[in-house]
Amino acid sequence: LAGSFGSATLAGLRVLVSAGPTYEDIDPVRFIGNRSSGRMGFAVAEAAAAAGAQVTLVAGPVSLPTPAGVARRVDVRSAAKMREAVLAASDTADIYIGAAAVGDYRPAQVAERKLKKHDGAPLVLDLAENPDILKDLAATHPHPFLVGFAAETHDVAAYAQDKLSRKGLDMIAANRVGAGLGFEADDNALSLYWPGGSEELPRASKRELAARLVQCVGMRYRAAKP
Ligand code: CTP
Ligand code: CA
Repeated sequence: LAGSFGSATLAGLRVLVSAGPTYEDIDPVRFIGNRSSGRMGFAVAEAAAAAGAQVTLVAGPVSLPTPAGVARRVDVRSAAKMREAVLAASDTADIYIGAAAVGDYRPAQVAERKLKKHDGAPLVLDLAENPDILKDLAATHPHPFLVGFAAETHDVAAYAQDKLSRKGLDMIAANRVGAGLGFEADDNALSLYWPGGSEELPRASKRELAARLVQCVGMRYRAAKP
């Protein structure tokens, strides 16, 4: 891979990227979120644009400027809205890179009024599982070349390869979170897996890694769809 940093690897391709966390509302003032900063996904969107792609970025709630070269940005809050935006844009995408940390659960009911405390009694929230955007995309035909992310705290390779096959993905980028890597960190390291192959992208800035990832995605895309 080293030395293959062609600048137009994705020329003529339409790349859809999701990034950031999702917020699942509990009531008008509270939500369930996660620690994704959106920086990895935004770096991927920027790198894809720099590699010549026409990029649409679907962003969860983050405070990040739209990266240079990104043609269209759609801001969403919840997993349900992210799913709508991604599915709507997927018809015209050649590649989907799901870098968003989509909330796995949402409160089964969103309270219309602010929840109040009740004399020390515990509050129990019922949570419903959110639909899986990647799995839903994999079930539509035709669908874009699918790249997932897997943030894991342990057994990274095994969990990532399981997600690759279970979700029907073309590639997965796995990273270990915690210990100064992953969410909220400046640096990251990625292990890429695809059916029948893998590649290690060693620790680097998220921008640097995004550029390398995008080169690999371009190569796998061309290999899979000659
Ligand atoms: N993903 C998705 N829709 C969801 C949950 C996850 O599209 N509702 C995508 C993410 O964007 C990511 C990939 O699936 O590209 C893996 O996300 P991850 O949270 O690691 O996997 P899960 O299947 O949710 O498994 P778990 O959180 O239990 O490890
Ligand atoms: Ca998850």
